[in-house]
Amino acid sequence: MAVERALAILKPDCIRKHLAGTVVAHIQKAGFNILSMKMVQLTPTTGGAFYAVHKGRPFYDSLVEFMASGPCMPIALEKENAVADFRELIGATDPKDAKEGTIRKLYADSKGENIVHGSDSPENGRIEVAFFFSERELVEGK
Ligand code: CMP
Repeated sequence: MAVERALAILKPDCIRKHLAGTVVAHIQKAGFNILSMKMVQLTPTTGGAFYAVHKGRPFYDSLVEFMASGPCMPIALEKENAVADFRELIGATDPKDAKEGTIRKLYADSKGENIVHGSDSPENGRIEVAFFFSERELVEGK
């Protein structure tokens, strides 16, 4: 299996609920290497640019407003099969549909406020990591 990069974002609800450490512990326990992480305050412009692929969808405006509602924490991840394995770890977009034991099932309130973002393809993983981090900021961790 190929080594991939994936971007996680601990969303503003995760930070507000003081769950950042708890979610990072799940991520590390699942075997992901953390290449970098930081606290960021998105604005409607920067959040809108990150989620530009969803522009025009009915939830876009509320998504962008929510992502700018408080600080969030982008995390650059690396692992074999990182994208699919991370999506398995976090569970379905809507916590009601997420499997038992997944991060969204355990901690999320709704489809909109769902604690964590995960890249949806290896190509987007690289693009999304590069949105928040320069190559210089990415540390080969183990
Ligand atoms: P995320 O993985 O960050 O990617 C896009 C986000 O849009 C998604 O998680 C959800 O939090 C949010 N969202 C809100 N409403 C919907 C919806 N109806 N369908 C898909 N995503 C939604």
